[in-house]
Amino acid sequence: MANYHKDYAFLMDNHYSKQAEIAAEAIGRLDFPRNLPKFTYVDIGSHVGKLTGLVLDILAQYYPPIDVHCVEPDSETFQELQANIRQKEVIFYNANFQHWLRSPGQSLSGRVDILVNSHTFYHYPEYSWPEIIQESDKLLTPHGKHVVIIDSAGSSLNEIKPVLDSKIPNKRHDAFGRFLKGSDLEMYFGSAGINYTREELPSPIHFNDNEEALDGVCHMLGFVMRYNPDDVKKYAAKDVQDFMAQYKKGGMIVFPRNQDFFVLPKQ
Ligand SMILES: C[S@@+](CC[C@H](N)C(=O)[O-])C[C@H]1O[C@@H](n2cnc3c(N)ncnc32)[C@H](O)[C@@H]1O
Repeated sequence: MANYHKDYAFLMDNHYSKQAEIAAEAIGRLDFPRNLPKFTYVDIGSHVGKLTGLVLDILAQYYPPIDVHCVEPDSETFQELQANIRQKEVIFYNANFQHWLRSPGQSLSGRVDILVNSHTFYHYPEYSWPEIIQESDKLLTPHGKHVVIIDSAGSSLNEIKPVLDSKIPNKRHDAFGRFLKGSDLEMYFGSAGINYTREELPSPIHFNDNEEALDGVCHMLGFVMRYNPDDVKKYAAKDVQDFMAQYKKGGMIVFPRNQDFFVLPKQ
C-alpha cells in the first residue's frame, strides 16, 4: 500500500519543485485591510508545515500579530509539523477538517482572515463539499478569504493521464481519494453559485536528466494520479520515457505544470 505522506514528501523534496513557494507568494499578494489588531490564519492539511512556514513568513511582514491554527489528521506527520513550526502563537489540531469544523473550528466563527486549503480538496468526498464550504465561510471575517489550491487541468502531466488510464489495470490505489483538478472544483463552484476568482500559478516540476529520472517520474505520476508508482513503470515505462523526451532541456526534464489558485471571498 502506498504511503501517502512519504509520497507527498517525495514530491516536495526529491526533485526541484517550488510549489509551496509559489503558492505562498500568491497568498502574500492578496489584499487585506492593514492595521488590523490581529490577523488569524487557519491552515488545513498542513502536512509537515512547509507551506505553513512560508505563508507565515510572508504574512508576518504585513500583518503582525498573527494567530495560527494548523489542522493535520495524520499522527506521524502531525508530530513533524509541531517540531517544524515553533512559533508560540500556533494552535495545532490532530484532526481532519470535517471534524475540526464541527467543534474546535466553531469557536473561530467570524474571526478568520484567511483559511487555506492547499492540495487538500481531493481528501474530502464530493458530498461533503457544500458543508465544508458553507461552514468555512461562517468562520471568515467580512474581508476574510478562503483560499483553495489544487493542480490545474492545464498541466503537461494531464497529457499522459489517458495513456496511463488505458494501460494500468488497477486504476487507483485508493489511498487518498480521486485525482482532482481545478476544473472539477470550478464546475462545482459554478453549479452551487459560489463566488470565486481563479488564477493559474505556473509551478513546473524539474528532474535531473539522469539514470534515476525514470523512477522519479513514475513515482511522481503515480502519486499525482493515484496509481501505485510501481505500476506506472511496470505497464507504461516506454510511454513515460517518450513523455519525458518531450520535456528535456539542458540536462533537466522540466514538466510545465500549473496550480489553480481559487479565492472565495466571504459569500
Ligand atoms: C498534499 S498534502 C498538502 C500539504 C500542504 N497543504 C501543501 O499544500 O503543501 C495534503 C495534506 O492534507 C492532509 N489531509 C488528509 N485528509 C485530510 C482531511 N480530511 N482534513 C484535513 N487534512 C487532511 C494530509 O494528511 C496531508 O498532510
